[in-house]
Amino acid sequence: MADTKSTPNASKLGRPIRRANAGALLRRAHSRRRSFEIEWGIVMSWLQMERKPEPEVMGSEDEVSAYASAAGQKHLDAMDNTFVDQVLSLGAPEGNASGRWLDVGCGPGNIALKVARRCPRLLIAGLDRSRNMVQTARRAASESGLASRAFFQQASADLIPFADGAFDAVFSNSVLHHLANPCKVFEEMLRVLKPEGAILVRDLCRPSRLAYPWHVRWYGRHYSGIMKRLFEDSVRAAYTPEELAGLLCGSGMLKAHIFHDERSHMGFVYRGHSL
Ligand SMILES: C[S@@+](CC[C@H](N)C(=O)[O-])C[C@H]1O[C@@H](n2cnc3c(N)ncnc32)[C@H](O)[C@@H]1O
Repeated sequence: MADTKSTPNASKLGRPIRRANAGALLRRAHSRRRSFEIEWGIVMSWLQMERKPEPEVMGSEDEVSAYASAAGQKHLDAMDNTFVDQVLSLGAPEGNASGRWLDVGCGPGNIALKVARRCPRLLIAGLDRSRNMVQTARRAASESGLASRAFFQQASADLIPFADGAFDAVFSNSVLHHLANPCKVFEEMLRVLKPEGAILVRDLCRPSRLAYPWHVRWYGRHYSGIMKRLFEDSVRAAYTPEELAGLLCGSGMLKAHIFHDERSHMGFVYRGHSL
């Protein structure tokens, strides 16, 4: 059935006007919208930079010393401090937190030791897959007189070697982008957490393909050498907030709250039920 015709009066004037019935107009609008959606989808998927996973363990001597020494630099120290403040907000007001807390992927132990220093009643356990990182953390704990309250163990985050409900709080900084199976790690964090406990995870955020060059130049401006390369690789390996939301759904933490720190970091807080 034809859906358009010329109006006779108008054609006499030599200007044929095309008339279309509503159904045809709707069909046309629909097909235009469909092709717009397809084109938009192609543009959006092109803009989305594919995630490029990193090796899980930062085991090489170079990486450990680059990380440990760079971590002493002003910028990383400030970043660690903002995370430590977030960690402390999980428990009782400043200094009064007590119980056992776990740092997953503790690296050289900087964050765990800062938390231990500020909360003299806490016992802190740290775990990391890398033997070198664990040795560095143990050394730092004894050098700072915290070895009786801060323990470090070599273990994988997807098989945490502690009993169910062993910890009052679990935290992890800058580890998520290393994980091959984050859902399994989130499940393990939940398993070792007391029902009324809290989990805090913070990590880098992966920007779009267009934003990536600007992103690594701006947020990586404090790094040089091997640390700059590690940072760029980590940003490529990071998840997006949408992907993080999907991972949380897949691991039973539906009520976790996702947060953003500027554009460079994101993470989540999960609070169990209070007694
Ligand atoms: C970028 S470092 C962060 C260290 C520390 N959380 C910090 O913020 O200073 C990432 C650490 O996660 C550790 N890691 C990666 N995958 C892991 C896993 N599956 N289990 C335990 N540790 C892991 C690495 O060995 C490395 O020490």
